[in-house]
Amino acid sequence: MKLVLVFMLAAIPIYCYASSSGCHAMDDVIAQTINSSVSVAEYQGVVKSYAPLPYDQKALAKLKQCFLDQSEETLTNVKVMVNAVYDSKDCPQSA
Ligand SMILES: *[C@@H]1O[C@H](CO)[C@@H](O)[C@H](O)[C@H]1NC(C)=O
Repeated sequence: MKLVLVFMLAAIPIYCYASSSGCHAMDDVIAQTINSSVSVAEYQGVVKSYAPLPYDQKALAKLKQCFLDQSEETLTNVKVMVNAVYDSKDCPQSA
């Protein structure tokens, strides 16, 4: 779980750099990831709408379930951390 999250977050500045639409997709996926009202099935639908390549639906379900198992406090902290990444100088979009 922690390792996957680190990889996901490490990819964010690359997405911001690549294009602003990529950044919007990333924003949306992250919002859905940390929204405890979004079910695994809904989440799979959202990611599917953005994914250009095939991927493992079961792995995605596990990832979302990991977030669903966290407390609201932890989910809020993830949001704080993601915003810190967006505001960092490695994210040219906000520069
Ligand atoms: C969380 O998801 C629900 C259902 O899709 C949506 O109604 C709500 O606005 C979302 N909350 C946030 C904070 O984005």
